[in-house]
Parts: sequence; C-alpha cells; structure tokens
Amino acid sequence: MSDAPHRTYRIIERRPEGGVGATLILDGALPAEPGQFVMVWLPGIEERPLAVMNDDPLSITVRVVGPFTRALAACQPGDRLWVRGPYGRGFPARGERLLLAGGGSGVASLTLLAKRALAAGATVRVALGARSGDQLMLPWRFRELGCELLLATDDGSLGLAGTALDALEPDLAAGWPDLVAACGPEVMLRALARRLQGSDVPLYLSLERAMKCGFGVCGNCHCGDRLVCRDGPVFPVDEVLCLLEPAP
Ligand SMILES: Cc1cc2nc3c(=O)[nH]c(=O)nc-3n(C[C@H](O)[C@H](O)[C@H](O)COP(=O)(O)OP(=O)(O)OC[C@H]3O[C@@H](n4cnc5c(N)ncnc54)[C@H](O)[C@@H]3O)c2cc1C
Ligand code: FES
Repeated sequence: MSDAPHRTYRIIERRPEGGVGATLILDGALPAEPGQFVMVWLPGIEERPLAVMNDDPLSITVRVVGPFTRALAACQPGDRLWVRGPYGRGFPARGERLLLAGGGSGVASLTLLAKRALAAGATVRVALGARSGDQLMLPWRFRELGCELLLATDDGSLGLAGTALDALEPDLAAGWPDLVAACGPEVMLRALARRLQGSDVPLYLSLERAMKCGFGVCGNCHCGDRLVCRDGPVFPVDEVLCLLEPAP
C-alpha cells in the first residue's frame, strides 16, 4: 500500500550497533523533520516503519526483533532498499535546553532532533537506556553531534545502574530543561509522563504502533482516537493521556 512511489537507495556503509542491530547509511538524502519516519520495503519480505535517523545522507538504525528487522540488519554495502516517505508529524523545533530520553530502537527518532537543535544553538542532553552496555544504540552518533550524554543500563555494565529516567532525574529536579522529548518502550514513556504531570515543561512523546500504510488509510496504528502514522508519531503528552493508563 503506498501513496507515493518508492525511491531506491543503495547502502554505502553498515555500522554495527552493539550486539542488537545496525545503522545503514544510504547513498542519497531525504529531507525530513526530526521524528518523522519512512516505510522501508524489502521485496519478498515486508515493508515496515523506521525512523529517519539522519536525512542527509538518509540513514536508518535497526534493532533486530523479528524477521523483517533481521533481514534489514543483515543487509550490506551495495544492497538496495526501497523507501517511501517521510511520514508523520515530528518534534517541534524550539527550546534552548533540550532533554532527550531514548530506549531501544527509539533512540533513532531523537538524533535528527538533536542535530537540528544543536544547529540552532541549543544545548542538548541525551539519556540513553538499555539492558546492558552492548545494547545501547547510537551513543556514537549523539557524541559525534556534540550532545551531552547520560548513559544508563539495567545491569550497570555502562553508565548509571538504572533507567534512562534515573539518569534524567537530576536535570528534571533542577528544572533544567525547557523541552523534554522521548521515544522508547511505553513503560518508560508512561513513567516520564507521570513524572512531568503538573509541570509546565512541554513533553513530547514519539509512539510506535504496528503500521501498514503509513499515511492514515488502513487504521492499523490507532492509539485511542488518534492514528499514530498521521497524527503522530510525535504527540504532545496531553494528546495521548491514554498512555497514563496502567499497562494491560
Ligand atoms: C514510527 C515508527 C518508527 C520506528 N522506528 C524504528 C527504528 O528506527 N528502528 C527500529 O529498529 N525499529 C523501529 N520501529 C519498529 C519497527 O518498525 C518494528 O520493530 C518492526 O516492524 C518489527 O518487524 P519484524 O518483522 O522484525 O518483527 P515482528 O515479527 O513484526 O515483531 C517481533 C516482535 O517485536 C514486537 N514489535 C514489533 N513492532 C514493535 C514496535 N514498534 N515496538 C515494540 N515492539 C514491537 C512484536 O510485538 C513481536 O513481539 C519503528 C516503529 C514505528 C511505528
Ligand atoms: S498505518 Fe495505516 S492508518 Fe496508520
């Protein structure tokens, strides 16, 4: 299902992401807003959504969780990918002190935001969380961009022993950020939404739902009365208060 033709890209570089996936750097640009996503098609396998990790050159970061992501992460320089998009509503480009929280593959939705905010003169602190040090994704990219990095692992093998939220807490308690943005497991997003309830610091969350069309037609990606592909994937927290409900 498509509202636009696919563009074909060739992989020019494959960079392993710890033991969990890879970043694929492609041979062309795709102008995108921070937080937008593309639909990536591997003929004969599937078509799935992935965040635009960088727009020039277009780069995506994949974490292996099933058949599609396994096949994508195994692609090598010279292989072709079919891409349509970008789709969705991204993060707002404002703020002088941005605090970003990422977990799992969700961190890929935050890199372009960091790049744009830094280019506009903002200070960007990024908390990345994972089970262990070898599962942290994209710390190299945030470092390369010039972000201040706060690392947290459940097993304490790298950075703080705890979650990305634990790593953010001192800055939240000090009232440092003027904007908070997050993408990752919903348990993390819920906890962050609760932590900032009643605060006047704007919080934007990027949600992930199973997607088919990517542009608001199939209804596959609903979250309450919203379609994540069309109305999101980035939402101001007030628009997705359903997240604050306890997990089923
Ligand atoms: C807007 C958006 C942006 C995304 N960006 C990225 C990205 O940059 N990098 C990346 O690696 N992945 C990203 N994802 C998730 C990615 O699309 C899925 O992981 C992928 O479709 C899984 O396909 P699969 O065939 O490998 O696994 P499947 O067989 O489809 O799923 C394997 C397991 O993973 C679970 N799963 C599938 N999708 C998700 C999901 N979105 N969140 C949590 N669990 C899931 C399934 O429930 C199942 O248990 C994004 C998703 C969305 C909606
Ligand atoms: S993926 Fe089809 S409506 Fe969102």
